[in-house]
Amino acid sequence: MRSGSRSILIRNGLVVTSSDECLADVHIVGEKIQAIGSNLNPAVDQVLDASGCYVIPGGIDAHTHMELPFMGTASSDTFESGTIAGLHGGTTTIIDFAIQTQGDSLHHALSRWHEKAAGNAACDYAFHLAVTDFRDNFRTEIQDLVEKQGVTSFKTFMAYKGALMVDDRQILDLMREAKKYGALVTSHAENGDLVAQTVQQFLDEGMKAPEYHPKSRPPICEAEATGRILDLAYSGNHPLYIVHMTCEDALNRVRLATLRNQKVFVETCVQYLLLDESRYLEEDFGGAKYVMSPPLRTLRDQEALWKGIDQGLIQVVATDHCPFCMDQKRMGTDDFSKIPNGAPGIENRVELLYSEGVEKGRISLQQWVDLIATQPSKIFGLFPRKGTISVGSDADLVIFDPRVEHTISAQTHHMNCDYNLYEGWQVRGKCRTTLMRGRVAVDQGQFLLEKGYGKYLSRTGKRSGGIHVANH
Ligand code: URP
Ligand code: ZN
Ligand code: ZN
Repeated sequence: MRSGSRSILIRNGLVVTSSDECLADVHIVGEKIQAIGSNLNPAVDQVLDASGCYVIPGGIDAHTHMELPFMGTASSDTFESGTIAGLHGGTTTIIDFAIQTQGDSLHHALSRWHEKAAGNAACDYAFHLAVTDFRDNFRTEIQDLVEKQGVTSFKTFMAYKGALMVDDRQILDLMREAKKYGALVTSHAENGDLVAQTVQQFLDEGMKAPEYHPKSRPPICEAEATGRILDLAYSGNHPLYIVHMTCEDALNRVRLATLRNQKVFVETCVQYLLLDESRYLEEDFGGAKYVMSPPLRTLRDQEALWKGIDQGLIQVVATDHCPFCMDQKRMGTDDFSKIPNGAPGIENRVELLYSEGVEKGRISLQQWVDLIATQPSKIFGLFPRKGTISVGSDADLVIFDPRVEHTISAQTHHMNCDYNLYEGWQVRGKCRTTLMRGRVAVDQGQFLLEKGYGKYLSRTGKRSGGIHVANH
């Protein structure tokens, strides 16, 4: 059947979801998946041959920072450049953090982020809201944000003292309010006081190079804060999502929490699975590229994270995409604590996790899809519109060719950053074609959408166990 909307047939791919795989055709009409089956033969406007390829749901990066004002500068990808890079790398939805300026309202933060994204984002986007000083009048703000503005997740920073950090009382107040409306609290878990003290010690002793960044934020900073936020959440029976976990000590706090049957979601990021702290020793201030918080850890921590994924303790692999170019990093030439924290990654997440995860036998195809798309959609209220391949879901799809080998380089990436953390990395498997709500967004490296195709995803619905089911 041919409708008035544009239609596409993806033929002969291995359709992979978080639970299944089967050789099938996918029929798309307009923005949605119309049918999945064998030997479909509708009249369509375009046929895409996916023989030998996987057809997977578009990736959801649940942790990005586009054009974030931070540490005296702003992250270098705009919503336009960052989401185009994401589409090249198979990501079709981002959840970015709108961050409250201390003393200002939550709604103002949200409207500033809407202004940056609307008409510019190439892929779809939602927002978490980071609360940086909880005040009593936020109670009505939070209700409105959840029920009317489609923001159903909040963020607390336990680090960045004097800028973003909140204390335990503020975290508890936020958790209690968020729970009333079924919203989820997420947290950057590092003990900001301990970090501030250790940073000062290093600086006082003249240790100012990038290699002192990880030393000033050892695993105990993360493990203590992880244990504390778990206890705070447990005290009120609040669900919790911990962002960018990096190390075994923190993961063991989660393990302990599961012994008392606590509900906690854990995210790690690709860089913590693949890169280690020796990177901080790169010459010519090269270590600054890896200055992010929490920092890169040891090979043992990487192994613990991979095992944590396999055990189901870690559900999401995101990027914490927050790029700064080298001239921005040089703000900290004489003082590592002034190096803007953050690094690029959105374009490489899906392919690297396939290459290092699936190809190397650490995770299955289904786990890969779950980590990059299905779990983030379920946890953050986008399922089943996003994150899976089913009739009626948005046609956000990636035709992924596992046979293609390529090499990552800043010379060829699309992120607005003059280096890539994985420069020279040999990758097996490539996102050949990315479809965004029924449109071919990227094909063989060509970006094909008009400016600002991405839409805001207002999240609604109800949390039930591990899934926040979206209303349609
Ligand atoms: O270093 C990082 N991670 N920068 C971005 C802000 C954050 O902490 O998530
Ligand atoms: Zn963080
Ligand atoms: Zn972040």
